[in-house]
Amino acid sequence: MRIAVLNQKGGVGKTTTTLHLAAAYAESGERVMVIDADPQGSALDWAASREAEAAFPVIGLPKETLHKEIPRIAGDKDVVLIDGPPRVTGVARSAIMAAKAVIIPVQPSPYDVWSASEIVDLCREAAVFKESLKYAFAINRKIVGTAIGRDVEDALADYDVPVLPAHVCQRVAFAESAGAGQTVLETEPNGTAAREVRGLAQAVREFTTQPVEKPA
Ligand SMILES: Nc1ncnc2c1ncn2[C@@H]1O[C@H](COP(=O)(O)OP(=O)(O)O)[C@@H](O)[C@H]1O
Ligand SMILES: [Mg+2]
Repeated sequence: MRIAVLNQKGGVGKTTTTLHLAAAYAESGERVMVIDADPQGSALDWAASREAEAAFPVIGLPKETLHKEIPRIAGDKDVVLIDGPPRVTGVARSAIMAAKAVIIPVQPSPYDVWSASEIVDLCREAAVFKESLKYAFAINRKIVGTAIGRDVEDALADYDVPVLPAHVCQRVAFAESAGAGQTVLETEPNGTAAREVRGLAQAVREFTTQPVEKPA
């Protein structure tokens, strides 16, 4: 299973989502690899700042040819997660070509939803010739105890792109764990953030294994 985590906007949680999904799948016994396709190399930095070896390797590949190289690099891995770059469209396109599914992290503000139009357009373009491609929004940094606002729901509805049912809230545990090259599954394995991450991993799994709905 190859999953690209993409959004042309920076700071929406691509790297956080990628590393946490990777940790969740590794925790459930799957062979996982992370491809860091961002020239800034945040996932590589995360791996380098760890003391203990991670449960999955992180490989830097910020190239427009990554879809050609991944099959060779991924070897026998069950799950390959691609952490996408902001802006660079060529690399995002290549990540889409490499993936079975694209997860688009968005923060629950209408502005953030609107700024996802670029990546949604890229996915739509790709889906024309890659019918099996699936893509969905993943809500990140929801404020604890609040519902998604009407304005955000309306902005999301304009796209006709599914929204994964598992949301991740704004929690300091994410930023704290990142600083130590860890995930919340390690720092607070029984905490709420860890529970949300496992819920997201399950939602992504269900989403990627459902057949693509064909227009009637
Ligand atoms: N759910 C969350 N709660 C708190 N902080 C978060 C959350 N998701 C991401 N962050 C923080 O937001 C910043 C940007 O996230 P990052 O994953 O690097 O975004 P991107 O890869 O899209 O640029 C980081 O400092 C990260 O720790
Ligand atoms: Mg990043």
